[in-house]
Amino acid sequence: MELMRMRLLLIALTILYNSASLRAEGVLVYEYYKEACPLAEDIVRHNVEVEVLRDPRLAASLLRLHFHDCFVMGCDASILLDSVEGMTSEKQAGPNVKSVRGFEVIDRIKYLVEEECPLTVSCADILAMAARDAVELRGGPRWEVLLGRKDSLKSSFSGANQFIPAPNSSLEALIDNFKQHGLGIQDLVALSGSHTIGRARCTSFRQRIYDAKPEYHYGYDRYKRYTTFRRILRSICPIKGRDHKFAPLDFETPARFDNQYFINILQGKGLLGSDNVLISQDYEGVIREQVWAYASNQELFFASFAKSMIKMGNINVLTEHDGEIRRNCRFVNTE
Ligand code: HEM
Ligand SMILES: *[C@@H]1O[C@H](CO)[C@@H](O)[C@H](O)[C@H]1NC(C)=O
Repeated sequence: MELMRMRLLLIALTILYNSASLRAEGVLVYEYYKEACPLAEDIVRHNVEVEVLRDPRLAASLLRLHFHDCFVMGCDASILLDSVEGMTSEKQAGPNVKSVRGFEVIDRIKYLVEEECPLTVSCADILAMAARDAVELRGGPRWEVLLGRKDSLKSSFSGANQFIPAPNSSLEALIDNFKQHGLGIQDLVALSGSHTIGRARCTSFRQRIYDAKPEYHYGYDRYKRYTTFRRILRSICPIKGRDHKFAPLDFETPARFDNQYFINILQGKGLLGSDNVLISQDYEGVIREQVWAYASNQELFFASFAKSMIKMGNINVLTEHDGEIRRNCRFVNTE
């Protein structure tokens, strides 16, 4: 009897141990390159700084690259792979094509890092570091970035079409989508705060501004304010044409990483449908509470944002067994 119990316990422990080691979560560490490539973080930081000075929008674009990488098979730099025969690049998928940018910055950083320490620093880690630096350079929070990711051996065009959320998603669909990546409603709300910087094309918000049925907004004059806002947006984006005209995601402080996004969405003035539904479809009021908290306390938003970015950066991380350090972020190594 006693022996039987012992054996059951042993089996249970083995299962626990195996499932823990199968999960990539927790394999990342701080200062991963401290010995092998002590200058890695400085090289990334310096180059992101130079590029963002030249083109401020790149900060937003680099942040988004990390997000679109992590939501397709995990944070494995799969988004950086170019098309090759038999494998279409994620860059060609609906949410990415003519939209994601910043690849040249990553190429340049990778080139310099390879000069300094060959085959040591993964492209997936470069994306995570660049996103972190980009946020800080626009006035956002800084966090210690966890490192040690490996790069994927393939890309997933279909995954990019399937797993990157669409701007016309319902709140329910957004919650589901984030849940599939192990992220909760709190993460969805905090990370949506990324839309405090950067821009969107007309094609991404047209449906929202021409939607026939008026959206219900909580509070006093929010709907009225929204109609003025909508008039401006319609002048940028007519019902047909000008698909690639831009509007800032945050009209008030478009270049600053701050908590203005949350003030905007409380007023019905988020640019994308997906921004707006956080309030308009939050029938239980749980999200609204969090949005109010961020709108009135930027430090609180910054702390949550950093926490959720670290969580996002942990999605399905690859190890030596299933990934590599790419020599060139656009291609898997040949030998
Ligand atoms: C909640 C679901 C989300 C949806 C539906 C969504 C959708 C979009 C869309 C449609 C655009 C405009 C693309 C274009 O028109 O070219 C955009 C831009 C952007 N998104 Fe999101 N997004 C979401 C969450 C996130 C998250 C989690 C992050 C970062 C962690 C993020 C960061 C950005 C940034 C920084 C931009 C501006 C990029 C630039 O100017 O180059 N988004 N997003
Ligand atoms: C969202 O937009 C896509 C592409 O424009 C469209 O095919 C789809 O029907 C829209 N979905 C909803 C729920 O409106």
